[in-house]
Amino acid sequence: MCECCGQVKDLYLPQPATVNETKMMNETELYLKLSMDDEPLEYRPGQFVEVSIPGFGEAPISISSSPTKKDGFEIVVRRIGNVTNMIHKLNTGDKIGIRGPFGEGCYPTEQARGKNLVFICGGIGLVPQRSFINYVLDNRDDYGDITILLGTKNEAQRFYRSELQEWSQRDDIHLLETVDQADDGWQGNVGVVTKLIPKIESDWASSLVFICGPPVMYKFVFLTLADYDMSGENIFVNLERKMKCGVGKCGHCQINQYYVCMDGPVFRYSELGATPEAI
Ligand SMILES: Cc1cc2nc3c(=O)[nH]c(=O)nc-3n(C[C@H](O)[C@H](O)[C@H](O)COP(=O)(O)OP(=O)(O)OC[C@H]3O[C@@H](n4cnc5c(N)ncnc54)[C@H](O)[C@@H]3O)c2cc1C
Ligand code: FES
Repeated sequence: MCECCGQVKDLYLPQPATVNETKMMNETELYLKLSMDDEPLEYRPGQFVEVSIPGFGEAPISISSSPTKKDGFEIVVRRIGNVTNMIHKLNTGDKIGIRGPFGEGCYPTEQARGKNLVFICGGIGLVPQRSFINYVLDNRDDYGDITILLGTKNEAQRFYRSELQEWSQRDDIHLLETVDQADDGWQGNVGVVTKLIPKIESDWASSLVFICGPPVMYKFVFLTLADYDMSGENIFVNLERKMKCGVGKCGHCQINQYYVCMDGPVFRYSELGATPEAI
C-alpha cells in the first residue's frame, strides 16, 4: 500500500532497482547487490523476487542476503537461458525491475529459536539457505548448534568461497563440504552430500533440518535421514518450480493443493503430503 495515495501496490508491476555491485563467483554464477530506487525491500529469509529485464522477461530468483543487512539485498544468478543471460550482462549502475518479495512459506525464524539447525545444501541451493544462515548468525544467541552440509559438483563450481572459509573457522558453526568429482589439489570429502550426514554428531531429536538443492537430491536426503528417525515435522524443504506469475494465478508451480510461489517456497515436509519423488 502506498503511504501517500493509499493505492495497493500492483503485484504485476516491476519496481525500479539499481545494480550496486556485481561479481562472477565461478563460471556460471553471478553475484549482484541491488537496491530498490523507491522504498527499500522488506523481506524474510526464504523469499524470492521476480527480476525483470525489459524486452526479455523475468525470472524468479531467491534473495541470498539476510534481512538483518539493511543496505540493499543480494542475489546469485546462474546463467541458463534468455533472462539469466541478460542479467549476466548487467554492470554497476544499471537499472532493472523487481517484483516482490514473494513466498509466504519462509524459513521458520521463530519456531527455530533454541533449536539445533542443520542446513543441507546442494549447489546453488546454498543461495536461499544463506539468507537464513546469516539471519541466525546475526541473532546467534537465539539459536542452538549450526551445522552446514554443502555438496558441489567440483571445486571450480564452489562459490561464496571467502564466506565458507569464515564459517569454517568459527567454532560455533560446523561446516562440512564435499564435491562430486575431485580435481587435483582438492583435499576434502568426495561424494554426494548425503555422505556427509553420518559424519555429523547432531542431536537429531532436537534439530530442525533445512534442505535445498537440485530436485534429485531430496529423495536421497530423505532416505538417509530415515536412519536417524527424523520426524517430517522437523524437516523443511525449500523448493524450486517453474513459475510464471509468481502470485498464485497461473498454476505453473502447483504441488498438490499448494502453489510454491504463494505457499512456499519453504515447506514443512510433513505438511506437503508429497512423495520424495514428487519433490
Ligand atoms: C522460487 C525460485 C527461486 C529461484 N532462485 C534462483 C536463484 O537464486 N538463482 C538462480 O540462478 N536461479 C534461481 N531460480 C531458477 C531461475 O528462476 C531460472 O533459472 C530462470 O527463470 C531461467 O530463466 P531464463 O530465461 O534464463 O531461462 P529459459 O530461457 O527460460 O530456460 C533455459 C533452460 O532452463 C530451464 N529452466 C528454466 N527455469 C527453470 C527452473 N525453475 N527449473 C529448472 N529448469 C528451468 C528451461 O526449461 C530451459 O531448458 C529460482 C527459481 C524459483 C522458482
Ligand atoms: S507461478 Fe503462477 S501460480 Fe505460482
